[in-house]
Amino acid sequence: MAFVRHIVAALFYVVLLERSVSFAQDQLTPTFYDQTCPNVTNIIRGILLNAAINDPRITASLVRLHFHDCFVQGCDGSILLDDPDTTEKVALPNNNSARGYEVIDQMKAALENVCAQTVSCADILTIAAEESVVLAGGPSWKVPLGRLDSRSANRSLANTALPGFNEPLDDIKAKFAAVGLDTSVDVVALSGAHTFGRAQCFTFDQRLYNFSGTGDQDPDLNETLAARLREICPTVGLTNLTNLDQTTPDVFDNTYFKNLQVEEGLLRSDQILFSTQGADTVGIVNDFSSNQTAFFEDFVESMIRMGNIRPLADVIGEVRLNCRVVNANISIAATDAEDARLVSST
Ligand code: HEM
Ligand SMILES: *[C@@H]1O[C@H](CO)[C@@H](O)[C@H](O)[C@H]1NC(C)=O
Ligand SMILES: *[C@@H]1O[C@H](CO)[C@@H](O)[C@H](O)[C@H]1NC(C)=O
Ligand SMILES: *[C@@H]1O[C@H](CO)[C@@H](O)[C@H](O)[C@H]1NC(C)=O
Ligand SMILES: *[C@@H]1O[C@H](CO)[C@@H](O)[C@H](O)[C@H]1NC(C)=O
Ligand SMILES: *[C@@H]1O[C@H](CO)[C@@H](O)[C@H](O)[C@H]1NC(C)=O
Ligand SMILES: *[C@@H]1O[C@H](CO)[C@@H](O)[C@H](O)[C@H]1NC(C)=O
Ligand SMILES: *[C@@H]1O[C@H](CO)[C@@H](O)[C@H](O)[C@H]1NC(C)=O
Ligand SMILES: *[C@@H]1O[C@H](CO)[C@@H](O)[C@H](O)[C@H]1NC(C)=O
Repeated sequence: MAFVRHIVAALFYVVLLERSVSFAQDQLTPTFYDQTCPNVTNIIRGILLNAAINDPRITASLVRLHFHDCFVQGCDGSILLDDPDTTEKVALPNNNSARGYEVIDQMKAALENVCAQTVSCADILTIAAEESVVLAGGPSWKVPLGRLDSRSANRSLANTALPGFNEPLDDIKAKFAAVGLDTSVDVVALSGAHTFGRAQCFTFDQRLYNFSGTGDQDPDLNETLAARLREICPTVGLTNLTNLDQTTPDVFDNTYFKNLQVEEGLLRSDQILFSTQGADTVGIVNDFSSNQTAFFEDFVESMIRMGNIRPLADVIGEVRLNCRVVNANISIAATDAEDARLVSST
């Protein structure tokens, strides 16, 4: 049973919103800010466009940030918190890798100027991801909104919940299942986000040299591409960058799937979607490779499903004023946006 609690402290208004899985999902709606912050998407887009002038990679980075937020306690902005003891930013999949935090800060600051205490950081990440896909040439969609920000982060969960570049397909599927996602279409469609952005050498160089102790390269890696990658990554363990999609690096399209068919997936976790004998992912790769519309439609559905990931247990949420820190108790006041989510109080 979903419920919301109103706690009024003696000196301060303190509103802590307690919600369950079903409550949160039922409440998400694209019209959530129509009355309270109607220009939210334009404001986010404006800052994104400005950031992309000097940093075309930012679109990819923001999509990844949303993914890394949602897989850890649900889409709750937990990845943005800076508390040194718990911050997810230094978890293995994120440290020196996840990026775009400053751009999210700019979006938050602009929104606080126009509609204070209204738009959650988790929603900013979600809208920024959609606008990034659009800016890179991909599909647009109506983004369900109304998430709250967490009051905590969890680094150890970030270390275990996010999939790794060397994990077997079954382990990757298990991590998608653990957050309530589908293990075939969601895995393949969302991996299609590797149609843009960059990766560091150490995330794929084990495929170039002595793969699994064989003394040779990964047999599922195109030899022409392997030779090119060995020039970028002359020894193992480097942080040099290369494009995840070697063909159209900054465009959101379906060439990622065409690349997999000619063994040009950059990460092992990419290539196994196509190269694992008998896997149910192979047919989906072929489908998306031959039909970009099919990819775009499924990608949108999967992004909305990923955006719906909620914590398994009830959590206490808020609209953070600064995405990097939880609110001090005194600063939280009930806004109209929050009131819209109050279904009962005790
Ligand atoms: C299926 C399992 C996945 C694995 C193992 C994986 C792993 C990785 C790795 C290792 C990188 C490169 C990081 C670096 O070198 O610093 C990367 C980049 C990226 N990932 Fe994934 N990823 C997965 C799924 C996803 C999903 C579901 C999305 C989004 C929907 C996504 C979006 C991205 C993007 C856009 C980049 C480029 C980011 C940038 O250039 O800043 N990935 N991923
Ligand atoms: C909405 O935001 C955009 C981008 O920042 C701005 O150009 C426009 O004037 C805003 N519109 C309104 C009605 O505030
Ligand atoms: C994160 O990376 C920095 C180097 O930039 C390193 O000093 C630090 O130990 C890393 N943190 C963790 C938790 O691995
Ligand atoms: C953090 O996640 C771990 C699982 O990795 C879990 O055991 C732990 O209870 C979580 N901590 C908090 C404070 O939620
Ligand atoms: C490859 O790795 C295996 C196992 O780690 C090792 O025994 C072998 O010497 C390595 N071969 C080369 C050429 O480095
Ligand atoms: C790769 O990185 C190393 C060390 O950071 C650097 O010396 C080298 O020039 C880089 N190589 C390429 C091809 O970018
Ligand atoms: C490797 O890539 C080349 C050039 O893109 C292509 O012609 C060839 O068919 C690919 N090899 C395999 C095994 O897919
Ligand atoms: C491509 O996929 C779309 C969406 O699933 C479908 O409507 C269309 O018929 C497909 N096109 C072809 C040529 O198969
Ligand atoms: C909020 O109040 C609780 C209970 O008084 C206290 O434990 C907590 O540290 C406070 N949090 C902040 C951010 O001030």
